[in-house]
Amino acid sequence: MSRRVLSALALPAGVSAAAAILCQGVEHPGEKKASKKEEKATVWKSRRHIKPCNLTGWWENDLGSKMQVFEVGRDGTFSGEYHTAVSSTQKPIQPSPLTGSQHLDEDGQCTFGFTVNWKKFSDSTAVFVGQCFNGDDGKEVLHTSWLLREKVDSEPDDWKATRTGRNTFTRAG
Ligand code: BTN
Repeated sequence: MSRRVLSALALPAGVSAAAAILCQGVEHPGEKKASKKEEKATVWKSRRHIKPCNLTGWWENDLGSKMQVFEVGRDGTFSGEYHTAVSSTQKPIQPSPLTGSQHLDEDGQCTFGFTVNWKKFSDSTAVFVGQCFNGDDGKEVLHTSWLLREKVDSEPDDWKATRTGRNTFTRAG
């Protein structure tokens, strides 16, 4: 019998709540024991470790693009600068302004959206929508989907003007 069980049994009657807490680590027959990694993940996800999602700062996505979100206002609105690593244009890439807004829920799982205007080197516009999560390692991760609207010469080309995709961002500063 483990030390934890012994401590619980030694408690006098009437302190069952304390006994229940002390018994939390007890193994039950047939129950799969959580691995060290799973235990750590549970602790990170406990309320104490959840960071409320604030987008302020630098983020990098799976394409190597970086964005800096300036201060998020009390109403959740923000502006920033997007440094895309890729482009469908021939012109040299330049940092591009972004504006957006985020929810301010305290569970660290806010949704948000922002628009990037590539005006310094492209006629296109991109919109991103996404959600913050706290990964198993406690690190923030942003899962986003985007639409990229390209300018076409005439209405018949409208069908081919919008691309879509997904990007995952992690904090870069
Ligand atoms: C353009 O090619 O007209 C402007 C640059 C577009 C970059 C896109 S937006 C979606 C995707 N995610 C990125 O980080 N960059 C590309």
